[in-house]
This record gives sequence, structure tokens and C-alpha cells, in this order.
Amino acid sequence: MRKVFFPAGHPAGVADAPAPVPGPGQLLVCTEAIGVSVGLVRMLAAGGAVRPGGEIVGTVVATGPDVTGFEIGDRVGGVVFADAYAELVLADPGLVSRVPAEVDAAAALALVRGGLVALSALRAGRFAPGESVLVTAAASGSGHLALQLAKALGAARVVAAVGSADKVGFARECGADEVLIYSQPSWGDPVDLVLDGVGGELVQRGVDALSPFGRLVAFSAGGGTVDAGSLLGGLKSVIGFSIGLVARNRPDLVIQHRTELWDLLAAGRLNPRYVDLTLDDITKAIDLVAARRNLGRVVLRTQ
Ligand SMILES: NC(=O)c1ccc[n+]([C@@H]2O[C@H](COP(=O)([O-])OP(=O)(O)OC[C@H]3O[C@@H](n4cnc5c(N)ncnc54)[C@H](OP(=O)(O)O)[C@@H]3O)[C@@H](O)[C@H]2O)c1
Repeated sequence: MRKVFFPAGHPAGVADAPAPVPGPGQLLVCTEAIGVSVGLVRMLAAGGAVRPGGEIVGTVVATGPDVTGFEIGDRVGGVVFADAYAELVLADPGLVSRVPAEVDAAAALALVRGGLVALSALRAGRFAPGESVLVTAAASGSGHLALQLAKALGAARVVAAVGSADKVGFARECGADEVLIYSQPSWGDPVDLVLDGVGGELVQRGVDALSPFGRLVAFSAGGGTVDAGSLLGGLKSVIGFSIGLVARNRPDLVIQHRTELWDLLAAGRLNPRYVDLTLDDITKAIDLVAARRNLGRVVLRTQ
């Protein structure tokens, strides 16, 4: 089988590798599509050889001992923690769920993690129909789906915040009523909810953009600090969110939210956007995300 290797100090490249063998409680999945995201870029930037995980969609081709709930032939999608960039990957049954047969692999790939993060973050932020929502990293794999979901779930006003002007048209296509660039001095009228996928200085800017009783969901690995005075002075709150911790503590929510996503997709209420590449394009994919130029999820097809 073909697999991407990420050697220290060298660009990633595809080479042949032996097929992994599923151990107790593991699935062997023949991938159709694999996602490239800022998480991989951060891992590579930290240096050293890595065996990164990531989101995948594919079909179960073997099961290890003690696997329950999945069978050979099941189409699944979700996250694997290591060696995701290969034709055959090992998956934990607790971190994948079924993917409808009729959904294109790249669209499914965009939903199983980015869509899940977007919907779960909206729910973590106690989003209610009629509210206004501002999404940072709004052209990203998760951000563009947050725009679409906010609209589909009844937001009165959806604001997209992006890093550069070349993303404005894309954000509007994803349902944004307004689009702003982070560097703009003003972020416009206040909003009820901010979903922040950038971190750093943008966390405080997001808090400053909230109306009284507004909430900011912080889900970026980019850190950031908040002035507590700006919270109490504005009756605002900040909510931390990690899909990995949700999956560990509330796997039922992951299943529930993925089911909602498939239903919204089937109803034509979501339009996952992606950059359609193959495993051999791994370097191009990494460069695209590192340069912050991707529109939607970056997907490597393996079939
Ligand atoms: N907590 C969780 O459970 C969870 C899960 C998944 C993702 N995330 C976070 O959500 C954000 C978006 O992730 P994604 O996978 O949807 O993104 P992605 O599809 O890989 O898109 C990357 C885009 O995100 C923006 N971005 C924000 N911080 C960045 C950084 N440090 N380096 C490069 N680009 C950055 C850039 O757009 P702009 O230049 O327009 O900002 C970039 O074009 C990330 O911060 C990620 O850490 C969190």
C-alpha cells in the first residue's frame, strides 16, 4: 500500500509500506479521502519526524479481535490518531461512525471533522435561532461549515472574519451576510456569539465584538488571553471547546451531531467546500494550508 512519510528535515513524500494489521479493538480502513489541516502544519512546524493522525473516510476491510459494532464493508469516517496519510489505516471504533453510501468521499471528509467541530461549537456556545454569529477562520475547513450551519439553523446575521481579502467572495458564497478582515479597525455591530478558530490576539477582539450576554467559543490551538474585566464589564463569557474531549466524554454527542450533519446535507442545506487533491499532492496541500490560502477543507483522495 502507499503511504506518506514525514521525515525530519525533508519534505513529505509517498512510498510503499506494508499494510498495518489490526490489533485488538482496531479496524483496518481502506481510505477514500484524508484531510490536511492546520493541525498537521503545526505538527510539522514543530520539527522532527512525525506520524500524524487526521480525519479519514473509507471502508472497513478487516477487524481485529474484540471489535463490536462494525463489520467488513462498513463505510466509516472520523479521526485516527496516527498514520492517517495512507491507503490503509488503523482506526479506533470509538472515533469513527458510519458514512452514508451516497455521499461523495470529499464532501463526507469535510463533514466528519470540520462539520462536526462547527456544529458542536455552535451548540457549545448555546446558539439559538435569531442570534447573530461571527466566525473567525471563516474560510477554513470548519469555519466555512460554521457559516453554512449558522444560516441553516436560523441565525439572523452571520459575519465571516478572514485573514485576507481574497477569501471575501468565498465567505459570501458560504452564507456570510458580512465579511471582515481581521486587521480592520472595527469589526462592526456586536454579535451574540463568536466562534474563534484563530486564537492569539483575536480572542480578545472576539470578546470585544460581543453584545451583552454574548458568548465566545474558543477552539483554536493558537492560545490567547482574555481580560476578565472585559467579561464582567460586558456580561460576556468565554467557553473552551475541544472535539477530542467531547468525543472522549460524550461520544453520544458526536454521533448525534454527525447524524444531524448527514440529514442537513441530504436536505441540501449544506454545501461542503474543499480543495480536491490526491495523496501525491501532499506537499502542495501542506503548503496551501501553511500559506493560509485554502478555501474549505483540503482533501487528499486515495481512490
Ligand atoms: N478544538 C477543536 O476541537 C478543534 C478541532 C479542529 C480544528 N480546530 C481549530 O480550528 C481552526 C481551523 O481548523 P481547520 O482544520 O478547520 O482549518 P483548515 O481547514 O486547516 O484551514 C486553515 C485556515 O485556518 C486559518 N488559521 C487559523 N490559525 C491558523 C494558523 N495558526 N496557521 C494557519 N492557518 C490558520 C487560516 O485562515 P485565515 O488566514 O483566514 O485565518 C487558514 O487558511 C484551527 O485553529 C484549529 O486548531 C479546533
